[in-house]
Amino acid sequence: MSREITITALKYNPSDADSQPTFETYTLEETPGMTLYIALTKIKATIDHDLSSDFVCRAGICGACGMVVNGKPSLACKTLTSSFPEGKIDLLPLPTFPLIKDLSVDTGSWMQKMNIRVNSWIVANEPTDISKIEKRISPDVADEVFELDRCIECGLCVASCSTSLMKEDFVGAVGLSRIARFSIDPYDSRTDEDFYELIGDDDGIFGCMSLLACEDHCPKELPLQTKIAYMRRKMVMV
Ligand code: SF4
Ligand code: FES
Repeated sequence: MSREITITALKYNPSDADSQPTFETYTLEETPGMTLYIALTKIKATIDHDLSSDFVCRAGICGACGMVVNGKPSLACKTLTSSFPEGKIDLLPLPTFPLIKDLSVDTGSWMQKMNIRVNSWIVANEPTDISKIEKRISPDVADEVFELDRCIECGLCVASCSTSLMKEDFVGAVGLSRIARFSIDPYDSRTDEDFYELIGDDDGIFGCMSLLACEDHCPKELPLQTKIAYMRRKMVMV
């Protein structure tokens, strides 16, 4: 049996001098299997054409649809409206990232800055010879690298993180797990001393307060705290 649900969302356009932050409440009929992506698309199509939120893949892959859902950073396309028995859902944009409008934030600029800050790419001493077969690596190591490569840069870990809220240059769990990924990868020639130069400070590995919210909210269930602990241990030994 279907029911009515109410969704309350922040409306605010910081680039419009006349815009004031307000909350709009929308009532709509819930349909079977309805996700917040579907609900917001329905609201935008039938009730409020002006409401802004981001989506690309609708499948938990692109990382575009992060927002705060009843106080918890979540992916809208992976959140079922039926998971809220009261049928009341409050939506806010992710904190920490610049607000574009309503529920839409700019995670891309933040991620670009972080990726440059932590040199998020393979650094090899030897030139790559594409005529040769790739050097083999053990399946266990490959699995560890591939696991961390599943990050979709959605920013939920950053939005959940108290240090990120206080320190705008903190690289966050996403940045620290990128470093862990390259430090595990045998194709990367960088030493622990090289990684220390990148993250051996309070905006890096020593800024994390181990509050665990990053791992609690990561939609890909990455072992963020284990990898942060792994890197912290390596960095204190440098
Ligand atoms: S680590 Fe998880 S929560 Fe953080 S950006 Fe990657 S997928 Fe999103
Ligand atoms: S729309 Fe791509 S992760 Fe939700």
